[in-house]
Amino acid sequence: MTDPSRRTVGPLIHATVAATRAVGPPRDTTMAQIFPRYTNTLSRASAVALALLVGAGLWLWARIQRSPYTSDVRIAKTQPVQFSHDHHVSGLGIDCRYCHTAVEVSASAGMPPTATCMNCHQQIWNKAPMLEPVRESFRTGQPIHWARVHDLPDFAYFNHSIHIQRGVGCSSCHGAVERMPLMWQSAPLTMGWCLDCHRDPTPHLRPKEEVFAVDWVPPANQHERGRELARMNGVETAQNCSTCHR
Ligand code: HEC
Ligand code: HEC
Ligand code: HEC
Ligand code: HEC
Ligand code: HEC
Repeated sequence: MTDPSRRTVGPLIHATVAATRAVGPPRDTTMAQIFPRYTNTLSRASAVALALLVGAGLWLWARIQRSPYTSDVRIAKTQPVQFSHDHHVSGLGIDCRYCHTAVEVSASAGMPPTATCMNCHQQIWNKAPMLEPVRESFRTGQPIHWARVHDLPDFAYFNHSIHIQRGVGCSSCHGAVERMPLMWQSAPLTMGWCLDCHRDPTPHLRPKEEVFAVDWVPPANQHERGRELARMNGVETAQNCSTCHR
């Protein structure tokens, strides 16, 4: 029960293994009299070569299944306004919580209302054509419709506040947001990816005050520190199906 690509590859792998067994070492001794001895070695070698070729094919296919082309990873969406996390987070040093205000207290991180943008853009760049959709939204009261970048299927439950409270930082799941001129998804968001961390989250646990730090790198003693943070914050391994499928 891992990811979909692995499940479909499963039966094919079994079939390959069975086929290689069926070809197997030649048993018929009369064959050995008609053909010179070395054909045995030859047929065995070609069976091995075939198995290798099939194996390589399967591997390649599985790679394509999990590649950015099929899982939306690293693909920036077109947005109604070319909002840049690079400029606003790296350049201006604005904290995530200034715009994603709900992230510590609710399941959803939340999107900033237009008023948040206008705190600055009433004064700064207030004539720029690029920002016209923002001003229009402010005038009319119609929210900006941002295209969703991360979107789990409805049958999977996710909750930001739990992760934040347990010391999992934004960059562990969203990557280097502060260097994205347009937002993209940096993790696959597959069930296998969730479970990889849930089995052992200790490499990713931080002290709470570093959860929003965009430049966090695990310190040399992360192994011990992660375990200690897990103990302190009561982190367990959440792997029951009902944790995420409620
Ligand atoms: C000045 C406001 C602002 C700040 C500060 C900000 N964001 Fe955003 N964020 C936005 C807006 C607007 C969007 C929607 C447009 C987009 O996707 O780029 C967004 C989108 C996102 C998304 C994608 C949402 C989706 O559709 O899946 C993520 C993830 C995100 N922000 C993470 C962060 C993190 C992490 C930080 C802090 C390092 C941060 N943001 C700081 C305004 C902000
Ligand atoms: C704390 C002040 C502040 C807030 C809040 C803010 N901006 Fe900005 N924004 C700026 C400044 C300053 C610049 C010019 C940055 C530069 O040129 O490096 C800018 C530039 C921009 C640009 C021009 C392109 C670029 O990135 O340089 C766009 C588009 C933009 N902001 C959209 C938004 C939107 C949408 C929001 C609300 C989600 C928002 N801003 C919130 C200060 C802010
Ligand atoms: C454990 C992984 C994880 C961490 C940590 C995390 N996110 Fe997310 N984030 C996700 C997933 C998964 C989604 C998609 C949720 C969905 O589709 O229901 C998401 C969606 C979002 C969105 C889109 C709106 C929403 O809530 O669905 C924003 C904005 C966002 N995250 C910002 C942040 C910020 C800011 C932080 C740090 C304070 C953060 N995230 C930490 C995994 C994470
Ligand atoms: C980088 C590590 C990491 C990733 C990735 C991650 N999680 Fe978690 N998750 C945690 C930690 C740590 C906890 C807290 C476990 C605890 O307190 O026992 C947690 C807790 C949860 C909980 C609450 C469990 C409870 O006890 O109620 C849910 C739901 C959850 N995660 C869903 C997800 C989903 C869905 C994904 C993938 C989209 C995901 N998580 C990805 C680290 C992670
Ligand atoms: C940590 C969170 C988490 C746990 C625990 C979890 N799942 Fe999932 N599961 C997900 C997410 C997220 C998806 C959606 C993945 C995607 O969109 O690629 C998913 C997808 C699925 C699917 C749809 C097919 C697929 O693979 O995409 C099935 C079936 C499923 N899960 C069954 C289970 C069963 C059975 C268990 C318990 C053994 C379980 N899940 C435990 C997060 C979880």
